[in-house]
Formats: sequence, C-alpha cells, structure tokens
Amino acid sequence: MTSQTASQAPRDLIDAALAARDKAYAPYSKFHVGAALRTENGQIIAGCNVENAAYPEGVCAEAGAISAMVLSGETRFDEIVVVGLGDVACTPCGGCRQKIREFTESDATIYIINDAGKTLLTLSREELIPHSFGPENLK
Ligand code: THU
Repeated sequence: MTSQTASQAPRDLIDAALAARDKAYAPYSKFHVGAALRTENGQIIAGCNVENAAYPEGVCAEAGAISAMVLSGETRFDEIVVVGLGDVACTPCGGCRQKIREFTESDATIYIINDAGKTLLTLSREELIPHSFGPENLK
C-alpha cells in the first residue's frame, strides 16, 4: 500500500524512531535519521545514523538498528519505521533496502514518517525492493 492510503505507523515504533533520531551523529550532512524495528519476538530495536569525517564510512540508521537486532540474538523483523527531516519521505538507501531484505519476509511493512510523527509513506518490502536478490538465490 503506498502513500495516499498510507496506514499509520504504530505509536510505539514512532516514539522509538523519534527518540533514536535525537541521538543521531550527523555533523556533516546535518540530516538526522532514526529507525525502529519490531522483531518477530516483539522486541523494539532502534538505530540512528552515525557519520564519519571519512564520509563514506558513515552508517545509516536502519543499518544500526539491524546490527543491534542481530547482536540481541534475533534475525527477523516484521515492521520498521524510518524518520528523516521534514515532509520529504526519507526512503531507505539502496544498501539499506538490501539489508532490510535480508531479515524480512516480502510482506513486511516499511513506514516512513516525518519528524512530527506523521506517516508519509507505507510500503511492503516487495514494494521497497522488488525482484530482490536474497538468501534463496544462493541455494
Ligand atoms: N541516511 C540514513 O541514515 N538512512 C536513510 O534511509 C537515508 C540516509 C543517512 C546517511 C547520512 O548520514 C545522512 O542520512 C544523509 O545522507
């Protein structure tokens, strides 16, 4: 389901993503991003972007949340909320789409919200990264 009929992101994930965004380390781009996912076991795990003076070494918010999820012992999540700046939807970059792909089913939900908590875009993972390459391709 896409933008005009966007179903609303869940409040608990909105709050976790906004809190994570407040912790972003983004002195170079000044573009603060937060992400919060819900694992298949119901844990909420968040991440923020962490930049670096060596610009390409920065890490996206989604990537941070996914790494923390794996560290916590989980490898599946059903939904993720991403928040960037203003009303232009902060859609995950290509690399993050692939990282999301690794740990979700095709019907997982990706919500993009604004920094006031309003849902801007709601996508299935299949919409986010169609015809994706995944673990099954290696079998
Ligand atoms: N960024 C994210 O953390 N997630 C996204 O979905 C898009 C971009 C970060 C990377 C960089 O620190 C800043 O936003 C500007 O590109």
